Amino acid sequence: RKRFSMDLKDYIESIPGFPKEGIIFRDVTPILQNASAMRYCVDQLNDFVKSVGADVVIGPEARGFLFGVPVALENNVGFVPVRKPGKLPRETVSETYDLEYGQDELCVHADAILPGQKVVIIDDLLATGGTVEAIIKMVERMQASVTGVAFVIELDDLKGREKFKDIPVCALTHFEGE
Ligand code: PRP
Ligand code: MG
Repeated sequence: RKRFSMDLKDYIESIPGFPKEGIIFRDVTPILQNASAMRYCVDQLNDFVKSVGADVVIGPEARGFLFGVPVALENNVGFVPVRKPGKLPRETVSETYDLEYGQDELCVHADAILPGQKVVIIDDLLATGGTVEAIIKMVERMQASVTGVAFVIELDDLKGREKFKDIPVCALTHFEGE
């Protein structure tokens, strides 16, 4: 298959004031609607996953699924979904994390990650890093290691990557407070 380059920002819509005032929402649905843009993302994320090595890819609901599943398949490894409480039917490991106001919780099936496995986390967007930090804690509690974290978009101003300094980080495109 022929490789090509593109400006991903052509396929990301920015919506000021959504979901609340002062926030610019970065909407990746145009990427999903365009096979070439999606293929570009999957190829780039897959290159990173290959370079760091993964036995399994993990990603948080909902938008982490959209990129995590195709990248895992492309890499010929499994995908593990991270979900909000009350969604997974069997025994789970969970972790609470801080939001701007209050706390939230993420869960993963307790038998989905095996001790010693290499795990890559994929999500659509890195903001404060709270979501990924909670996933790292769960993976490490399952005695596995996170070999990399990869995003389609990084919001550079929020410095989320400082929360996981020792782990390789990949982002396909970046926004500053514009
Ligand atoms: C968004 C985004 C990331 C997370 C990043 O998800 O998809 O998962 O926030 O924020 P953080 O780096 O500050 O943790 P959201 O919670 O809006 O849910 P969704 O993916 O289900 O739309
Ligand atoms: Mg999300």
